[in-house]
Amino acid sequence: MKTYEDLAGDGGSNIIEQVEALGKKLRSRLDRIKYKVALMSGKGGVGKSSLTANVAACLVDKGYSVGILDADLNGPSICHLLGLKNSHKLIVDDRGVQPGIGTHGIKLMSMDMLLSSPDSPVMWTEEADATAVWVSTMESTALRELVADTDWGDLDFLLIDMPPGSDRIDNIRSLIPELAGVVEISIPSLLSQHIVSKSISKNNKMKVPIIGLIENMAGYTCPHCEKEGPLFEGENVESLAKQKNISYLGKIPFDTRIGRKTDSGSLYYMDNKDSVTGKAINSVVEKILESTI
Ligand SMILES: Nc1ncnc2c1ncn2[C@@H]1O[C@H](COP(=O)(O)OP(=O)(O)OP(=O)(O)O)[C@@H](O)[C@H]1O
Ligand SMILES: [Mg+2]
Repeated sequence: MKTYEDLAGDGGSNIIEQVEALGKKLRSRLDRIKYKVALMSGKGGVGKSSLTANVAACLVDKGYSVGILDADLNGPSICHLLGLKNSHKLIVDDRGVQPGIGTHGIKLMSMDMLLSSPDSPVMWTEEADATAVWVSTMESTALRELVADTDWGDLDFLLIDMPPGSDRIDNIRSLIPELAGVVEISIPSLLSQHIVSKSISKNNKMKVPIIGLIENMAGYTCPHCEKEGPLFEGENVESLAKQKNISYLGKIPFDTRIGRKTDSGSLYYMDNKDSVTGKAINSVVEKILESTI
């Protein structure tokens, strides 16, 4: 494979200039965003997207301007959670691609905004024999475009809703080297902790800054009487944080209302700040703020 140096002066392709221009565009977007925080977990289905949306709502409530990059290219959730309809038309003007504006004015960019209908799957190629390397190259390019082509404007926070797994953070890190850090999420089950433990080790090894660990779905809060009880059998996630020498950001109870929008169309947090779960979200956000700002 040729390097950029080999290609210099090659057929007038201007590849070096193109790469430099792309880099400059990316930088000019990112320089206008103060803090970039990725929410991730080695494990799937532990509440990354739901917490990203509610953490964003809590930050907005505190007066910060917030955007969400849906980095889950194959299972995007953020449009759904922030009430952005699929009929939303992508606007491209001379400043770039305009992000969607979701509930509470949260800006967002997601693969969902590029699909033709709500049930269209993300398909990188129609070729049955496409190699994993090729698909992964297309994914990296798509992610770069979602970040660099979007006119995020001035933001206090860009939250990045990561797909399940530990590997995609490398991609984000290469696009956003100044990442304020990652927030890891685990549910109390031992299986989840086993997988998240590996994800933390990998981040430590790769020197990815870790803001801390959230324990989600920790105990059940009855939506009627707010009484709490255990949900999963598992060791305390706080001890995993201690063992890995990272901050424990707190526990969010299992609460069936968290994934729903309220009757007013708000995210759960916004209309339930004083509930047990609302207070738990606020406490986690306070700790994130302590370590980023
Ligand atoms: N604290 C909670 N209480 C009750 N339900 C929750 C809680 N957190 C998340 N959920 C629910 O769990 C399911 C999975 O959540 P979510 O999609 O946010 O997880 P995820 O980690 O983003 O999943 P994926 O790995 O597929 O991206 C959703 O139905 C969501 O409403
Ligand atoms: Mg998700």
